[in-house]
Amino acid sequence: MKSVDRTKPVLVTGGTGYLASWIVKQLLDQGFEVRTTVRNLAQKDKFAHLTELAVKSKGILQFFEADLLKKGSFAEAMTGCELVIHTASPFKISGIKNAQKELVEPALEGTRNVLDSMNATESVKRVVLTSSVAAIFGDAIDIRNTEKGIFTEEHWNTTSSSEHQPYPYSKVLAEKLA
Ligand SMILES: NC(=O)c1ccc[n+]([C@@H]2O[C@H](COP(=O)([O-])OP(=O)(O)OC[C@H]3O[C@@H](n4cnc5c(N)ncnc54)[C@H](OP(=O)(O)O)[C@@H]3O)[C@@H](O)[C@H]2O)c1
Repeated sequence: MKSVDRTKPVLVTGGTGYLASWIVKQLLDQGFEVRTTVRNLAQKDKFAHLTELAVKSKGILQFFEADLLKKGSFAEAMTGCELVIHTASPFKISGIKNAQKELVEPALEGTRNVLDSMNATESVKRVVLTSSVAAIFGDAIDIRNTEKGIFTEEHWNTTSSSEHQPYPYSKVLAEKLA
């Protein structure tokens, strides 16, 4: 992270998540001041592992409450940050009852919400979004529709939908919006 101002805090959204927890750990180990968002600050057991990591690291960790569906709820956490790493997004591939509500809306509206706040926050200069390979393809058979039998960033997942593979669908919509 050579080009990042190390005196500024870094925001990682969705701290309770798998990916975010590793990112937070790496930033803390490098001595960064890290901010992370959780959906409910009262549910301390969901982020106890991060509190523990912070104690053992060179960095500083602060928690903020934010929900993908609450407009503006990430603004406070990112104020003063130069870099925002947005990982929060529902990652569910089974047990889905309402794909639109459980996956599509939070992924899409969450991306809009977080990016809108970044655009309105003067200190923010860089954003990293965790997209997915699912944004470029849904079914493996989709490779037959590529020219050279290779998926690249030029491709979009065109076969997923709310009914068929809603998680990949949520990722392609969020990526397109971003
Ligand atoms: N793991 C992979 O292999 C992989 C591969 C490609 C891309 N990704 C992407 O990487 C990101 C993180 O994935 P992950 O594997 O770390 O998933 P994860 O462990 O399920 O973490 C998802 C995070 O999103 C948060 N979240 C979900 N809905 C939310 C809402 N309405 N408001 C606020 N936060 C919400 C969750 O908070 P709660 O704990 O409160 O639910 C959790 O912190 C996602 O964008 C995912 O699509 C993951």
